[in-house]
Amino acid sequence: MQGPESNRVKTPIQMNDLPKHIAIIMDGNGRWARQRGLDRTLGHREGVKALKPIVKEAARLGIEVLTVYAFSTENWRRPSREVDVLMSLLVEFLASETPELKDEGVQIRTIGDIGRLPAAAQQSLAWAKDETRDQTRMILNLALNYGSRNEILRAVNRWHTEAPEDTELTEEALSCYLDTGGLPDPDLLIRSSGEFRVSNFLLWQLAYSEIYITEALWPDFGTEDLHEAIRDYQTRHRRFGGLG
Ligand code: FPP
Repeated sequence: MQGPESNRVKTPIQMNDLPKHIAIIMDGNGRWARQRGLDRTLGHREGVKALKPIVKEAARLGIEVLTVYAFSTENWRRPSREVDVLMSLLVEFLASETPELKDEGVQIRTIGDIGRLPAAAQQSLAWAKDETRDQTRMILNLALNYGSRNEILRAVNRWHTEAPEDTELTEEALSCYLDTGGLPDPDLLIRSSGEFRVSNFLLWQLAYSEIYITEALWPDFGTEDLHEAIRDYQTRHRRFGGLG
């Protein structure tokens, strides 16, 4: 940023008021590439590069869960070449970053119906999850073949087959059956590239989340943008529907 804004002293992040769970819609890779006359897939490659420092910084700050929307149930509608590149980038990301993420105390998990991903992606994910299963500093949740409506349907159907007859589905039970079962709901949702949509992401879990939207395209989203989102979150007064 140029001019007086950049010289303004920033409020420090309050370490006793951090969001426990941050969810991110990493949008704008395609536009980033188009602005440079590049192929969309190069935008995704830059998008993966942008993810690593954000994961490391979130872990350093003490965020407990970071959930990132990497591939939606709707993304299958993209040209098959773009889908193939996204899957290859996932495999590359896991192979190159898992050892360092493990050293940083990051546990890799997924949400979404990953049984439909290509075999190579499933194998890489199984390996990365197993490698990092004992890490406790931060959970990195990769949303892959994820759609919130699909997740809710899978949860309800599983509950239906497992619950004793004549029991009623409660909010608590449904929360447990979701792919995020056992995790706190996101306190903060960040969306890059200036779009005001939730895009079938964590519809149940975002009920009381604070939403932060930035114009930055995802490949340009850096640790300072993460700090800004957290600072903004810390100015909000969360009421959870009450008057408090
Ligand atoms: C949206 O940009 C982004 C995606 C569809 C994929 C997000 C994926 C990454 C950032 C990288 C993959 C992550 C891993 C872990 C491998 P868009 O293509 O919709 O951008 P546009 O709206 O500008 O066209």
